[in-house]
Amino acid sequence: MIASALARLRESLGEDAVLTADSALERYLIDERRLYHGRAAAVLRPRTTEEVALAVRVCAEARIAMVPQGGNTGYCGGATPDESGREVVISLERLRQIRALDAQGFTLTAEAGVTLAELQQAAAAGRRLFPLSMGSEGACQLGGVLSTNAGGLAVLRYGTARELVLGLEVVLPDGQIWRGLSALRKDNTGYDLKQCFLGAEGTLGIITAAVLKLFPQPGTRETAWVGVPDLAAACELLSRLREALGDSVTSFEFLSAASLALVLARDPDAAPPFAGAPGFVLLEVSGSAHETLRDALTQALLNAMEAGLIGEVAIAQNETQRRAFWRLREGIPLAEKALGGSIKHDVSVPISALANLAERASDGIRAHWPRARLSVYGHIGDGNLHFNVLAPEDCPAEAFKAQHADAISDLVHGAASALAGSFSAEHGVGKLKRDLLHQTESPLAIDLMQRIKRALDPAGLMNPGKLVG
Ligand code: MLT
Ligand code: ZN
Repeated sequence: MIASALARLRESLGEDAVLTADSALERYLIDERRLYHGRAAAVLRPRTTEEVALAVRVCAEARIAMVPQGGNTGYCGGATPDESGREVVISLERLRQIRALDAQGFTLTAEAGVTLAELQQAAAAGRRLFPLSMGSEGACQLGGVLSTNAGGLAVLRYGTARELVLGLEVVLPDGQIWRGLSALRKDNTGYDLKQCFLGAEGTLGIITAAVLKLFPQPGTRETAWVGVPDLAAACELLSRLREALGDSVTSFEFLSAASLALVLARDPDAAPPFAGAPGFVLLEVSGSAHETLRDALTQALLNAMEAGLIGEVAIAQNETQRRAFWRLREGIPLAEKALGGSIKHDVSVPISALANLAERASDGIRAHWPRARLSVYGHIGDGNLHFNVLAPEDCPAEAFKAQHADAISDLVHGAASALAGSFSAEHGVGKLKRDLLHQTESPLAIDLMQRIKRALDPAGLMNPGKLVG
């Protein structure tokens, strides 16, 4: 059955769209964090929406399970096939068209395989801003970004991926194409169907293109590196800055001193303006050209300093300095990876509960694993903390993770849950957190999700084993 379906696909899509050689498949079978290593009957590489539809139709008729994949940068194994060798991966990497840029309407229409960095560049070429931004932007692709409802570094001002979408084109599990590429900002004609597919991790269909919202390019931008005594002070600073500067507060990131130390140990070119504080905030404000944000930001930071809320402050004087500040924040995941990786968490709570979350989780870790190293950082403006735990210095990372990851994650997720938080703020559920979803969501919520799944994918062929599949 699989062999004849693949033969049919070769005939209609061409040899180069149906990969089966082990060496060609390898890179599609391992996830970014190397948590999963699957097998696949083939990797399909369609070039157009119609080819995706054809591939899905042939697979559905042959009852072959499909795993959609974009840039393969996800953290939860949502795009990795299982170990049976009977699934096919459908890679969207060849759907590479920017279909339209409407500068007057502030929209961009692009296909699933365009990288996030390319979307930003396309918008900038039309003197517009596509604000979604994250460390993986050179590699992650639109389809995956939308399917995981990714967050990143400017959610505070512009929202997560979901909030940046006006319309979608989706290949449904039976191969039909839902052409929902509307560019309307107002449209109350029934259910908002696109929301079914955003954040659905490819379990309900394959996103092939989207109409995205664009924004004016900021005419002015200020970036500051601020020393803070603790996370509570960082949260209070955020509140005061928003009061003083309104929606111009665009990014507000926290780094613990331990996270910064990991970056400095690994990256000889990383140069913080100063480093001797218990924690740091990296913040950015932006606005239109006529705004004088520098004065307003300086005044607000001075007020916070006088109130004893914050310590030293440095404001970037040029783009080189700004990039140097961001290098410190964006280097954290790489620094952890260089040490063999961490037990990662992606928790969110109301901003007012963030300090409490960090304290509870840190106390719990110290009580049971006193020599484990913590790397706590994240998107404070979104209430989203990456509370990561590394092996003690003299303990091999792999062995520590294998032995303690489950208990440590239970503890951190328990702390978030006790504060009405989420175990997955911006990285999705995939395979990694599927059981957790079932354990923590109400039975009614799971039932509703499963009813939607059954309605759209009654045969259960679309990305099985992920989310509620
Ligand atoms: C980040 O905030 O840097 C990303 O979510 C990646 C990560 O935490 O590893
Ligand atoms: Zn993050």
